[in-house]
Amino acid sequence: MLLLRSCNSLTRFGPLSTQRLQVAPALASCAVRLHSSFSQDQKSYQHATNSPSWKHALAGVLAGTGAVLGYALHHQKAERTDVSVPTLEKSSPLPVISQDEVTKHRSLEDGVWVTYKGGVYDITEFVAMHPGGDKILLAAGGALEPFWALYAVHNQDHVLEILSEYKVGVLSGEDLKKQQAVKSSDPYSSDPERHPVLRINSLKPFNAEPPPEILSDSYITPSAFFFKRNHLPVPQVDPASYQLHVEGLPGGVLTLSLKDLKTRFPKHTITATLQCAGNRRSEMNEVKQVKGLNWGIAAISNAKWSGARLRDVLLAAGYGPDVAQWAHHVQFEGLDKDVTGTTYGASIPLNKAISEDGDVLLAYEMNGEDIPPDHGFPVRVVVPGVVGARNVKWLGKIIVSAEESSSHWQQNDYKGFSPGTDWDSVDFKSAPAIQELPIQSAITTPADGAVIDGSDRTLTVKGYAWSGGGREVVRVDVSLDGGKTWQVAQLGSGDKGQAPEPSPPPGRAWAWKLWEVTAPLPPEAQELEIICKAVDNSYNMQPDTIPPIWNLRGVLSNAWHRVKVKVREDEGRE
Ligand code: MTE
Repeated sequence: MLLLRSCNSLTRFGPLSTQRLQVAPALASCAVRLHSSFSQDQKSYQHATNSPSWKHALAGVLAGTGAVLGYALHHQKAERTDVSVPTLEKSSPLPVISQDEVTKHRSLEDGVWVTYKGGVYDITEFVAMHPGGDKILLAAGGALEPFWALYAVHNQDHVLEILSEYKVGVLSGEDLKKQQAVKSSDPYSSDPERHPVLRINSLKPFNAEPPPEILSDSYITPSAFFFKRNHLPVPQVDPASYQLHVEGLPGGVLTLSLKDLKTRFPKHTITATLQCAGNRRSEMNEVKQVKGLNWGIAAISNAKWSGARLRDVLLAAGYGPDVAQWAHHVQFEGLDKDVTGTTYGASIPLNKAISEDGDVLLAYEMNGEDIPPDHGFPVRVVVPGVVGARNVKWLGKIIVSAEESSSHWQQNDYKGFSPGTDWDSVDFKSAPAIQELPIQSAITTPADGAVIDGSDRTLTVKGYAWSGGGREVVRVDVSLDGGKTWQVAQLGSGDKGQAPEPSPPPGRAWAWKLWEVTAPLPPEAQELEIICKAVDNSYNMQPDTIPPIWNLRGVLSNAWHRVKVKVREDEGRE
């Protein structure tokens, strides 16, 4: 297939007569190699790239890592066909091509050409395989650099290797100079500084989690350590000119400034835990590779949020009982945009948004201060009890609607599937968007693989537990012997030495519980498998293993958390 692509590239050189001569030997070599290498592998390669569900998966590029995996798949297939070396480059000097010529190739009909660092590439055949779908066409006829600056996931050796397969020429020196004169700015250059302790899953866009042991140090996670999940560059929003638009209600569009939000509506404060749907995805990866950032157990944090209630704002914008006759959702749009101007978006059910007990906030403070840039300055939605993805940051627009948000993240991501569903069979329309998250708990200390001091024959284990939908965690069971015997952990809702938080009203337990247990070491044990599992007030419990809940996106990973440690023998055994 790659050979076919090379051959196609060459035939599209038709209009450039001088180049025809130069490519003749390469065409001949294409023909020979094409004959010898058309194999079963190529059929499966064709299948993978032609299948509609694969194209579905491609649409996930803005989720970042989909792109990496997409490229990885391409790369793997390319290796199997054994023709990853660009024969054209090896066998003939490349023609010099003007920018004018490149500009003529901006569509699938005329061919899709791009330039990168002075090379000219005919990527027509690659468009269907691009993990970001046809967004790649935005670069057609021009330079890739400004686009790759936004989606830094491309800056990897194997992506460059794939690109090299499509090289058809070099850009004329004069045009290259012109290109270099146009500064391509890094859209991430104004991202805020982050705390060095964070463990980075992806730098651009920035995605990071704190070391787990820090999480259980404090009930309220300091904002600097709070996990960060961005799909795009952090937008810079001027608080003085910030406007929030509320649409879809009979009263027309209501536009509010930050000052309006702070002064026209009562300030409401809640303590709520946010958890990313991909928290603990790395454990799913151990069962079978999934698509997505490889989050550990710390894509979850707890903060105090203050702001106006969404309910109050909707009422001020004209919400009344009639609206519930036709409206079922409230959509949110962020101010962070991709290259096409598409904003991050999500929606929640209207009844959660409007309910007095829903506690949905248009938050302008986090832990008593302005919301930091990474977490949505100046205003974000906090939808307690609901998956992080719906807690839209840098909020620009609210739309009351009969429909869910049409955004990629509502429709084609953040949904759960059967372990048997693969990228060929997945139908995103068949599954509901994740809203309330299931019961969750994890061990923050000791760490997996740690060597513990067994001299006093006891071990202290710590962790967190949380459940979605306002369901309160009522118990955490901990085992030091792989699940044979269990101890009940002590649940905490306050830091040591401080008064515990008051119990939440029923159905409004938005915050996690930190827990701790000190238990005797099993006699003679040199190695321990420590397990935790939580129970909420609806008696929901975590599943015991991952394989039955494995899913291709690696979301909703909430099996019993297991940590293996070694007991230091000299002190641990008398
Ligand atoms: N809102 C906007 N505008 N853009 C985003 O990329 N990421 C979402 C959500 N809101 C996102 C967003 C996801 S997937 C999660 S898990 C949470 O924000 C993370 O919030 P945090 O970075 O404050 O922890």
